Amino acid sequence: MECNAIRIKNFRNIEVAEIEFDSGVNILAGDNAQGKTNLLEAISFTALGKSFRTSHEEDLIRFGAESAEISLDFTDSSRRQNITVRMMPGRRRRIEQNKVKVSRLSDIVGAFRTVLFCPEHLSLVKDGPGERRGYLDIALSQLYPVYLKSLQRYNQILKQRNQLIRNAEDDRKTFNETVEFWSQQLAHEAAVIARYRAQYLKRAEKHIRACFDEMTNERELPEAVYAGSSHKEPESYEDTEQTEREYFDMLMAHHDREIGAGSTLWGIHKDDIDIRINGRSARSFASQGQQRSLALAMKLAEGEVCAEITGEKPVFLFDDVFSELDSTRRAYLSGKITNRQVIITTCEPSGIAGGKLIRVENGRYTV
Ligand SMILES: Nc1ncnc2c1ncn2[C@@H]1O[C@H](COP(=O)(O)OP(=O)(O)O)[C@@H](O)[C@H]1O
Ligand SMILES: [Mg+2]
Repeated sequence: MECNAIRIKNFRNIEVAEIEFDSGVNILAGDNAQGKTNLLEAISFTALGKSFRTSHEEDLIRFGAESAEISLDFTDSSRRQNITVRMMPGRRRRIEQNKVKVSRLSDIVGAFRTVLFCPEHLSLVKDGPGERRGYLDIALSQLYPVYLKSLQRYNQILKQRNQLIRNAEDDRKTFNETVEFWSQQLAHEAAVIARYRAQYLKRAEKHIRACFDEMTNERELPEAVYAGSSHKEPESYEDTEQTEREYFDMLMAHHDREIGAGSTLWGIHKDDIDIRINGRSARSFASQGQQRSLALAMKLAEGEVCAEITGEKPVFLFDDVFSELDSTRRAYLSGKITNRQVIITTCEPSGIAGGKLIRVENGRYTV
């Protein structure tokens, strides 16, 4: 997978830009607030169908401009392709893949695949479960379109079911009449999502172990295991019918508690990844250095799993991560980014070897 070129109009502080990328290491270098992360955000937008920084599309349009446009050329194993997105405030965005109009951005997710790594990801192990679910969702959505569809449906149904719960005090009758229907729907999507998450971690874990081992030379064994809200063995999520029944039973058994809490208490929106070192919770017992090494290993594993499943290496997007790492991890990461495309932002280009250097100043990019 390779990002060949991007053309941008009125996205963030970028008025116009046309940038070609090298097939190896690309370094975006410049002072703070010049537009380095903005460019990665534009690239990542075409991969994920959303910004990694905001859910407000209007923030992405250059102040005072009427619309923004991103057009990205990329090559996958078979051919050169293009994704073009045009955003207008208050209007539906216009998306084209290879000049053909696409109705929803989620339809293009998975076409151009990236692994994004920001400094915030270094706290993936010690952050709350929401960040770890985000890690799984971004990786899986790019790999399996059905996963993203299921997740979108799940979130929609969850919203409806939560609304029903909140209205239940005033209207117990409607609740009693419809809760079974919503619980069934929710349990169905939950079982699909849980299976993907459990399978993914099983694959990712061996890469996490290998990276952690190479990085630290410590004789310690990391684990990263799916922790779903039904607390069963990860393998048992293979049987989605059984999981669906279990979720349904949970969603039908504790209505008073759910009404008291004002929300749905069981489901994949409560999932976590159980990360351990030598059998102990890494979140509670690992040193800060180990936690950071594990987080780095998890991001690198994301790239390995993606390559394993699709047969192609995803493009790495590294936002300011090198400056956050100590020399050992920095050296390790440098060794991991050969033979693939990587786009790196930094204030300090001198520390990163080789590659195409692109200077960033006030939303302008020069080679
Ligand atoms: N919608 C927008 N229109 C114009 N400028 C914007 C917009 N959103 C952010 N910016 C500007 O972009 C700059 C930050 O760019 P960023 O890429 O995050 O910097 P860095 O080079 O440090 O990564 C800030 O000066 C900010 O004011
Ligand atoms: Mg930045």
